[in-house]
Amino acid sequence: VAAPEKYSNKRHRHPELNDQIEKVLDSLKISDEQLIHIMHILEEEMSAGLSPITHKQATVKMFPTYVRNIPNGTEMGHVLALDLGGTNFRVLLIDLHGNSKIELTSKIFVIPQSIMIGDGKNLFRHLAECLAEFMKKENLLHSGICYPLGFTFSFPCKQEGLASARLTAWTKGFSCSGVVNEDVVKLLQEAIVEKGINAKCVALVNDTVGTLMACAYKDPSTAIGLILGTGTNACYIENLDKVGTWNGDYNEPKQVIINMEWGAFGDNSRLKHIRTKYDQEVDISSINPGKQIFEKMISGMYMGEIVRLIILDLLQQELLFLGHRDTYGDYKTPLYNRGGFYTKFVSTVETDEGIQFSNTRRVLEDIGIHNPTFDDCTIVQHICRQVSKRAARLAGAGLAVLINRIGKSNITVGVDGSLYRYHPRFKRNMERCSGKGAAMVACVAERNLFKISD
Ligand code: GLC
Repeated sequence: VAAPEKYSNKRHRHPELNDQIEKVLDSLKISDEQLIHIMHILEEEMSAGLSPITHKQATVKMFPTYVRNIPNGTEMGHVLALDLGGTNFRVLLIDLHGNSKIELTSKIFVIPQSIMIGDGKNLFRHLAECLAEFMKKENLLHSGICYPLGFTFSFPCKQEGLASARLTAWTKGFSCSGVVNEDVVKLLQEAIVEKGINAKCVALVNDTVGTLMACAYKDPSTAIGLILGTGTNACYIENLDKVGTWNGDYNEPKQVIINMEWGAFGDNSRLKHIRTKYDQEVDISSINPGKQIFEKMISGMYMGEIVRLIILDLLQQELLFLGHRDTYGDYKTPLYNRGGFYTKFVSTVETDEGIQFSNTRRVLEDIGIHNPTFDDCTIVQHICRQVSKRAARLAGAGLAVLINRIGKSNITVGVDGSLYRYHPRFKRNMERCSGKGAAMVACVAERNLFKISD
């Protein structure tokens, strides 16, 4: 570790370089006024998704989920669950005790890249095989019981019932053939039957809905579920009279959970004014160009990549890593490769406080930048902070729209996802912004507008 230099707020000892760096990062800044404008646009897009007239063209789909009741903690029994759509695939056995207590046994499996982009049949066969392996270990096979199974499937689906859901598009790096427009529950059940497993899929939920429900089991004021992980999305409890696309019954409770699919916000260029050239590049080199524009500015699958592109830009403008021209000239650093800077690096870099930069130095070492200068570390940390702060503010603005819409004085938000869990400042930045956004519109400073729980 280099001897600590005197700390200064200036990111670069050469003021003219500082200005140039700020100019590059200026494009990432979103003012409070802009955020309020974005909140208005999101509200309009939500209405478009909920109206039967505009739903088809709408980008924010606002899918009704057929989940009408939230748990109250008295639910009991053994259920199996599959969780597909984040970084890992998980199989779980859940024991509900009926007193808000839950016992969980779970196992994580990997989904090889070849399966993620291969034939859909193989994907579901793989899921059934993992389920069988788990049930064997837990002595659940051949028990004479047919276990109910819940499927957390975290992709946009048009639901036709609790256990019937058609995939509308793949997101987050998946692109298996033969699944879009198909009933995913049916595909899973076929694979389960083919494998001879004693389980029946009785419900499919999005991860946002799963998060809302899990949180509501412990806290009845839960009304929003939010995911900040590989992807981002939110769901909330909506009154049936606001859901023009609803085609179920109107019995009590006159409410339904709406899976917003807010990751697709901006797919019709309504966020064009805040997108940077880095966002455009991330989008163009993704497997779904033009899709999931909001998600690509926020979530873990893309954050590291945005940072990488900015670092690369500064490096090419000779504003960063000046002592390493030999190294990067030889293309020895993964900074030149797509995906070469992981989102977990962003979290690590932002954990550093003060002037030692021990974590930042470790990350830079990892990508072949040996003995970075104090300036190098400060600049890299500054980039990470700007990118993650923008993401947190955008997510906060989205959350504020929901808090305002629900309009209750005490709302609990269930939040999950790797970005939320592991990033040291995301939660704080998002809370600050969503609180402000909600308060500004609601104009009630003393109300306890929301508390976040995970
Ligand atoms: C993507 C999916 C969405 C999911 C989110 C978080 O946006 O389309 O269904 O909830 O990622 O995992």
